Amino acid sequence: MTNPVSATLEDGIFIVTIDNPPVNAASEAVRAGLAQAASQFAADRSAKAMLIVAAGRTFVAGADIREFGKPLSGLALPDVVGRIEALDRPVICVIHGTALGGGLEIALGCHYRLMLKSAKIGLPEVAIGLLPGAGGTQRLPRLVGIEQATEIITSGRQIGAAEAAALGIVDQVSDNPDPKSAGLAFTREILAAGRPVRRTSEREEKLAADRARPDLIATLRKSVEAKARGQISPVRALDAIALSLDTPFAEAMQKERAMFMELLASDQSKALIHAFFSERAVSRIPEQESGRPREIRTAGVIGGGTMGSGIALSMLLAGIPVTMVERDEEGAARGRANVEKVLDEGVARGRYDLTRRNRLAHDLFRVSTDFSALREADLIIEAAFEDMEIKKDVFRRLDQVAKAGATLASNTSYLDIDAIASVTNRPADVLGLHFFSPAHIMKLLEIVVAKNTSADTAMTGFALAKALGKTGVRAGVCDGFIGNRILERYLRLAATMVEDGTSPYAIDRAVVGFGYPMGPHQMGDLAGLDIGWLARKRRIAEGYKGRYAFDYLDRLAEMKRLGQKTGRGCYIYPEGARKGEEDPEFLALIEEIRKEKAIAVRPALSEAEIIRRYLAIMINEGARVVEEGIALRPLDVDMVMLAGYGFPRWRGGPMHYVDSIGLAKVLADLEEFAAEDQEFYKPADLLVELVRKGQTFASLNDRS
Ligand code: 3HC
Ligand code: NAI
Repeated sequence: MTNPVSATLEDGIFIVTIDNPPVNAASEAVRAGLAQAASQFAADRSAKAMLIVAAGRTFVAGADIREFGKPLSGLALPDVVGRIEALDRPVICVIHGTALGGGLEIALGCHYRLMLKSAKIGLPEVAIGLLPGAGGTQRLPRLVGIEQATEIITSGRQIGAAEAAALGIVDQVSDNPDPKSAGLAFTREILAAGRPVRRTSEREEKLAADRARPDLIATLRKSVEAKARGQISPVRALDAIALSLDTPFAEAMQKERAMFMELLASDQSKALIHAFFSERAVSRIPEQESGRPREIRTAGVIGGGTMGSGIALSMLLAGIPVTMVERDEEGAARGRANVEKVLDEGVARGRYDLTRRNRLAHDLFRVSTDFSALREADLIIEAAFEDMEIKKDVFRRLDQVAKAGATLASNTSYLDIDAIASVTNRPADVLGLHFFSPAHIMKLLEIVVAKNTSADTAMTGFALAKALGKTGVRAGVCDGFIGNRILERYLRLAATMVEDGTSPYAIDRAVVGFGYPMGPHQMGDLAGLDIGWLARKRRIAEGYKGRYAFDYLDRLAEMKRLGQKTGRGCYIYPEGARKGEEDPEFLALIEEIRKEKAIAVRPALSEAEIIRRYLAIMINEGARVVEEGIALRPLDVDMVMLAGYGFPRWRGGPMHYVDSIGLAKVLADLEEFAAEDQEFYKPADLLVELVRKGQTFASLNDRS
């Protein structure tokens, strides 16, 4: 094991450098190196101060997540931090890049902290199902008080330098971009001023004030529990933070450690760590072997409706100039208004100032009714109506105006990218870029690689996802790609459950209880019930296969009860409300339809039973999508469902989740339900095969 920590003595300052690329994670070797450096400094009486600095792009980004799940080997981080804090001469650190998790905990163990202006700090452990396990829950409250510490730790958010200084987490902010020289200057200041050793664990002022607030923890608990929505780590983090009020530091550290280890062993942290690594693994695609992304300096968007304007915004916010082309002047004006409305909201919410808003709206954004305005665009994304003939017409025209080497994309939800590409003379430059609504907010981007899409074009899609801060997932061509194809299955299931006797509201409650932000009927109301209705009409025209159970939603759409936008859909939305109330008329309508269709109504399903079916159908379609190569690996299905469809992240995605409950159980469920509808519940071959071989979906994730 080479030592990633080195130490030198310069001018009486003992400089300790951590160099463990890519993100200086606090691996076993780093922990050992830091402990050794602390001992060396303790023994070297000629050194007046110790300065900890990291090499490369960042300070320590946390514990080494790759070590989790293996038995702890070597020194534990809290002990290392304790040794650093116990030193008898000033210990200073300088934070650049990010100091996250265990990285910030090392910094909190130092006596003084300098932060470069561009740096960020945070304790993001809850995001991977953990709590800060190296003193963060005890030291941070001593610096900022219980309330602030709870907000920072349970949100896991990153904090910039100005805020960190204002909160008292760091002592000074430096403009100097070089961590080492900034750190040396700061250390010399501390020495010159004769500032003493100052241990965070011994600071009591903030806690003394908090002890005088008897209801503080109970009040915080209510809000943390409400926000956590089933996730345990934020609640446990608050338990640990609360210890700082009444438990001696050393004892609280032991308890924090025990709670950390308990969470580390939990299914939730395994699921969240799976999500963390999957988020990065999705960009590993076969095309990266030979493909090179093309540069995107300017972009075009066709259509300025819901999606076109959201896609334009997403690119503008990433600094990419956009030209939007609409059918006529009215459409163009509407497209511009859609974009400017969101930019104005951003200003009102303090996300950016008016100068930036105007730069994006006027310098970077143009609208036109003329396709030739797209001549210079490196990338053009079509978001016109969901109609094959319209899309083909658009692509024929694009083929005429776009420059050679431009990337041409369609945002279609379901249509065949090969068919769209076939009308051009450059099918290799065509791909699907399936954004989700609202496109400037939703993380997911399905990158649909068609038969003739070149590796360069596919890589350009991934480069765009990165530039927009989105999670790009590679999908193959089929009706609905990965996400909408799976969605279609569980919406169909929800509809059959309703027809057969279960309340739509019970289904929504069960799905929310499982951890989704909303149920299928709430989602329909939010998106507009006309969207699904139109998609179903298209399917019916193409020859709908299987049982059709959506009449109750079609009726609502026919009555123009389209959801939130009309104040009434599956729910009633009193003036201005976003949360709907149950509608007895809707329930009566369902009852009527059951009678009309002479459905043999069954007893309403329990919430557990609803979820058992919901998951079985979702996992089964996920397996098919992998089996057919539409998704590269099960983890790609997981990322789609997490980033685009609201599957609770702390359950890791459906394919990860099924590994934890057992594939054989889901197969048995499907076989049981198949007695009701053989075709609908037919188990996927891949699922059957994995059960036969005793394998998991995770075993398929390794083959990249
Ligand atoms: N451990 C191990 N590997 C890590 C890691 C970590 N803490 N953080 C990042 N990596 C790896 C990534 O997997 C990636 O590997 P790959 O290239 O093989 O895919 C590589 O480092 C680069 O990471 P990113 O692609 O994410 O690089 P970015 O520059 O986009 O982001 C970052 C950098 C902001 C540091 C981001 O990686 C991040 O948020 N990391 C996780 C931070 C975290 O959660 N820390 C807390 C850990 S738990 C802890 O500290 C427990 C303690 O309380 C005891
Ligand atoms: P929309 O109806 O809100 O907007 C479509 C816009 O395209 C209209 O403003 C229309 O004037 C314009 N348009 C139509 N034909 C045109 C042409 N030939 N040239 C220039 N502009 C033209 O539709 P929406 O919802 O934005 O959907 C657009 C596409 O995105 C569809 O393919 C849809 O399936 C897909 N999509 C929709 C999602 C959603 O949630 N609404 C999500 C993901 C994809």
